[in-house]
Amino acid sequence: MDWESHYLDNHTPWDKGAAAPPLLEWLEANPTLISGDILVPGSGKGHDGAALAERTAASRVVGLDISPSAAGFANATHQTERFHTQTGDLFQLPAHHHSAFDWVWEHTCFCAIDLEMRDAYVEAVHFALKPGGNLLGVFYRNPYDDEHQPGGGPPHGTSNEEIVSRFVGSGFFEIVESYVPSSSYKGREELEQLIRMKRL
Ligand SMILES: C[S@@+](CC[C@H](N)C(=O)[O-])C[C@H]1O[C@@H](n2cnc3c(N)ncnc32)[C@H](O)[C@@H]1O
Repeated sequence: MDWESHYLDNHTPWDKGAAAPPLLEWLEANPTLISGDILVPGSGKGHDGAALAERTAASRVVGLDISPSAAGFANATHQTERFHTQTGDLFQLPAHHHSAFDWVWEHTCFCAIDLEMRDAYVEAVHFALKPGGNLLGVFYRNPYDDEHQPGGGPPHGTSNEEIVSRFVGSGFFEIVESYVPSSSYKGREELEQLIRMKRL
């Protein structure tokens, strides 16, 4: 998938111009839980990263996107001291990102990568988090159907069973909470799962 071309062509149907409603809902319910450093892989135009910087006590929010145009847009649009987006590949994290983050926020990165990269995703997030750190994410369980979005994605769907099998089964994570959020972007209602996992 050539993500950069999508941003250059301004063809970014996943981008809703605002932070993910399940993130805002979770932050409202947990206003003081987040502190320290947050990594946002596949951060796109930066709406979630900006919300995390504005609404939490995080000292640093680092967006990471493989598309230079997405990162450039995020940095030009969200001018905050505590939020910066880097251009980079989640699967080639620099050594200084090892055990560097207290939280990872996941939103439509896991569903965007190729299916065969999912275990590598688990390893990359484990690499980036400090022991005891949290992976908080909204996972798109069933993002498409063959009638309306033929071709099989991305986005690629998942299931609670697959998430447990990959993340908990890796021995790297335990699940702290998991629920269907009551707020979603239009069209994603009931199709998402909000999950918080602790890195062991
Ligand atoms: C479906 S978009 C979601 C963007 C953003 N989370 C949002 O909801 O608007 C997936 C994003 O992941 C980025 N991406 C894909 N593979 C990546 C990788 N290996 N490392 C970092 N970013 C990646 C893409 O450039 C794209 O911005």
